[in-house]
Amino acid sequence: MSDEDARGTAGRIADLERRHRAATSEADERARGKQHPRGKGTARERVESLVDEGSFVETGEFVLRRDDRRGGEDERVYGDGVVTGHATVDGRRVCLFSHDFTTFGGSMGEAFGEKVLRVMDLALSTGCPVIGINDSGGARIQEGVTSLAYYAELARRSSSASGVVPQISVITGPCAGGAVYTPAITDFTVMVEGTSRMFVTGPEVVRSTTGEEVTGEELGGAGANAAAGNVHYVAADEEDAFDWVRALLAHLPANNLEAPPEFPESAAAPAEELDTVIPDSPNRHYDMFGVLSRVLDEGELLEVQSSSAPNMLCGFGRLRGRTVGVVANQPMCRSGIIDIAASEKAARFVRFCDAFNVPLLTFADVPGYLPGSEQERGGIIRRGAKLVYAYSEATVPKITVVTRKAYGGGYAVMGSKHLGADMNFAWPTSEIAVMGAEGAVELLHRDELAAATANGSVEEVRAKLVEEYREVFANPYTAAERGYVDAVIRPSRTRAELDASLRVLESKREQGPPRKHSTMPL
Ligand code: HXC
Repeated sequence: MSDEDARGTAGRIADLERRHRAATSEADERARGKQHPRGKGTARERVESLVDEGSFVETGEFVLRRDDRRGGEDERVYGDGVVTGHATVDGRRVCLFSHDFTTFGGSMGEAFGEKVLRVMDLALSTGCPVIGINDSGGARIQEGVTSLAYYAELARRSSSASGVVPQISVITGPCAGGAVYTPAITDFTVMVEGTSRMFVTGPEVVRSTTGEEVTGEELGGAGANAAAGNVHYVAADEEDAFDWVRALLAHLPANNLEAPPEFPESAAAPAEELDTVIPDSPNRHYDMFGVLSRVLDEGELLEVQSSSAPNMLCGFGRLRGRTVGVVANQPMCRSGIIDIAASEKAARFVRFCDAFNVPLLTFADVPGYLPGSEQERGGIIRRGAKLVYAYSEATVPKITVVTRKAYGGGYAVMGSKHLGADMNFAWPTSEIAVMGAEGAVELLHRDELAAATANGSVEEVRAKLVEEYREVFANPYTAAERGYVDAVIRPSRTRAELDASLRVLESKREQGPPRKHSTMPL
């Protein structure tokens, strides 16, 4: 091409295409060679496997590190270690950034930070979810304090976006140091088993400062973070991670001013089976999933944080095509008791649902808060209060079904009328009382039982007292007589009752008093 042709339109288009190839396909080719042997995708491959085919529109592909802007063409590293842009997922708009670990270790520099801030601003101004795919060495050492400044800027932007647009982090590689707080501020964090790590300080620093010998996986692998409640889903591989994110997005509105998407109505498992789900013996457990599968469309619950506090189930489902957030005690695990981890897990979930117009369905079968010095020392007073607070604060439609036990503080916190639930149902198998029959009888009839022990009739007397207690207190009717329960329903009617309630509550509007923000017990 002559100099004249190169300066003409055709030459300029050819130059654009050459630059575009250098920034994308050629960079990707090199990145594949580094990432694939580690079982990791490249930044663009990851975006492509998450979004609708051909929908990704990249922004800032020619962005260069400040120093590279002065360098020759061969020295240029386009993109500065992060791919940003927008795309659709199931036809709905999302904004994304995806770290490129093969460029400066995906570390955050000035140009990188500007790109991510810009795409977050786009998400905020247009009202669509932000998804961050993390694979980064953290603050770029060569850019020093500038890099730190951008972490703080990102955290500030993410805090502004909190409760306005859903924010999702997918951790597909390292995420260390203060960098962990960027995903921690987002709403959902997904980690990939085996290849992702999140820790505030890595194993070497831990060893040198405390002497503790610990591997990276033990310290910050997906399992460790899931157990700590930092992760909402542990994915088997990257594909599984993106599948989960797509399923999650399908339940969420694009922003806090919209309703969640509606789907065609589909059936649950046969409702009649609910009439036999509760065992006759109060000491026999049943699986709460067995209840949910007969209430939710297709029997499906997209569980969040399934690896922590399994005694409390949280997740998204649909009822006649509309998204609902489900909070349920799991009697199969520690009898569904509320401990610190369960309270914090459910509180966070309730607050997310409330922020994004997702009605809350609560299924209560709860013996109360977990007693013991370990929990007291761990702060169950303050941390258990989070769930009370979250329910009280939530103004979305709140509907509760008591299936069996609802004792003491457990009754009060699990979506009771007194915390503002709109509709409260109880199955005839419910026991709504201060405590279980056995415990109550021991407390109330100490003298009588002692006398019976002396004359050898204690078992008989205890059984009679327990029966009397159940008759008077451990049933749903005392609560129903006071209007704390709107209806005692046949279990097989649950889906129909919830559907009717959701319909009437669709137009619910509730405004709290004006204030800057609440001071919830964090
Ligand atoms: C610049 C970095 C980098 C960083 C990695 N690289 N981290 N470059 N700044 N922070 C570069 C490496 O030099 C290397 O470049 C390439 O990325 C790949 O790194 P490797 O070490 O070869 O990869 P690997 O063995 O997989 O180890 C990955 C790693 C390790 C565990 C992330 O690189 C690492 O420990 N990096 C430092 C992590 C860290 O301490 N970051 C600061 C955290 S504090 P070449 O050219 O050789 O390919 C922080 C503050 C946030 O982030 C503040 C918030 C307020």
